[in-house]
Amino acid sequence: MRTVDLIQRKRDGETLSTEEIEYLIHGYSTGDIPDYQMSAFAMAVFFRGMSAKETADLTLAMARSGDQVDLSSIPGVKVDKHSTGGVGDTTTLILAPLVAAAGIPVAKMSGRGLGHTGGTIDKLEAIEGYRVELTKEQFLQQVTDIGVSVISQSGNITPADKKLYGLRDVTATVESIPLIASSIMSKKIASGADAIVLDVKTGSGAFMKSLEGSIELAKAMVEIGEQVGRETVAVITNMDEPLGLAIGNALEVREAIETLQGSGPDDLTELCLLLGAHMIQLGGKAATYDEAREKMEQLLHNGEALDKLKRLIAAQGGDKELADHPDRLPSAAYQAEVLAAEDGFVSHIDAEELGVTAMMLGAGRATKEDRIDLAVGMVLRKKVGDAVKAGEPLAVLHMNRNETMFTEEMTQRTRRAFTLTGNAVKKPPLVYAVVSKHGVQMLHNE
Ligand code: URA
Ligand code: CA
Repeated sequence: MRTVDLIQRKRDGETLSTEEIEYLIHGYSTGDIPDYQMSAFAMAVFFRGMSAKETADLTLAMARSGDQVDLSSIPGVKVDKHSTGGVGDTTTLILAPLVAAAGIPVAKMSGRGLGHTGGTIDKLEAIEGYRVELTKEQFLQQVTDIGVSVISQSGNITPADKKLYGLRDVTATVESIPLIASSIMSKKIASGADAIVLDVKTGSGAFMKSLEGSIELAKAMVEIGEQVGRETVAVITNMDEPLGLAIGNALEVREAIETLQGSGPDDLTELCLLLGAHMIQLGGKAATYDEAREKMEQLLHNGEALDKLKRLIAAQGGDKELADHPDRLPSAAYQAEVLAAEDGFVSHIDAEELGVTAMMLGAGRATKEDRIDLAVGMVLRKKVGDAVKAGEPLAVLHMNRNETMFTEEMTQRTRRAFTLTGNAVKKPPLVYAVVSKHGVQMLHNE
């Protein structure tokens, strides 16, 4: 097999076999195939696409390129969840205990934040004493014992994807549906999921800006799931504003606790109930979506999900009392209100801009080596659709620095992220569509 022939065939729109795709991914992993040939191949895929079979083959080849987590010793259907990246997306902290309370084993490996997006592992480190590193045996034992564990991803999951993603980033080949779909699905499959629920974000703050593109991506991932025997459901959700109100690590842990206490922001609560319902339905704990949804609401409101969070925190060495006393979380020294300059209605909130601002406050990393400040971030006071009077706060910054120039710059950046208009604005829908093996169910057409 010659790499150049495979590139040429893909360039000409032909279909590659399982063995040919395996050869490319294996060769690229070992370094036998150089970056320039893989770049040309990625560009050929960008223009020619891939069949469902090719996309599934690529996914499996990448999933097998490194460690594969074996969860088979844990009884039950292991359902994983993945979000295509958001700002202030606190869902994992809520969903893990919520679906575990319904009897779904949650063996979750999460990552750290980079750039404008946060990571669940950083958020968990805001809980004093919580250990994010467990041995494989401890991890499996804990899920068997209490039904849930959330730990930091091992270093060697899908190395081929890591290398290819890095290459795509600098060769203008990220925005290819088969390449994105296989990249995401390979990581979930290598992490041991039997079934997968995907939260595909759409809108200005998301990776896929258009609803059509997001639905195509969701369909490609559901199809991969079908091809490799891991049932997958994708929910297309709005990212034209951040999810919930808090952005920042300790602030988001507090928001997660409030949500599990039943007093969280409406959009975050709704998204967790929806994703959780799909997860327990896939896990066989409910026959219909409505039944699953009712169960999720029950477990949120009767305190069992919050109780599961306490057991999770305690099992991993953290202070479980924190779930009743979130004021014990790290807090920042200074708060600054960001005031509206004029009257109006919020029509848009630039999630990426706020994510970058939170990073500059110290809540995130510009490079992998940066240290983060767990206490800082911001809490929104207004969301899309809300009426605002001049001088009212749009958001509150939580800071550990208070130089005038810094505060001024952060305040201005935050204010600029809010777009106000003179006319009343309708609250945007949270969920646009659900994509499953049964097809696309549109919930909102706006
Ligand atoms: N997220 C991923 O993990 N991979 C991609 O290709 C794009 C987004
Ligand atoms: Ca949030």
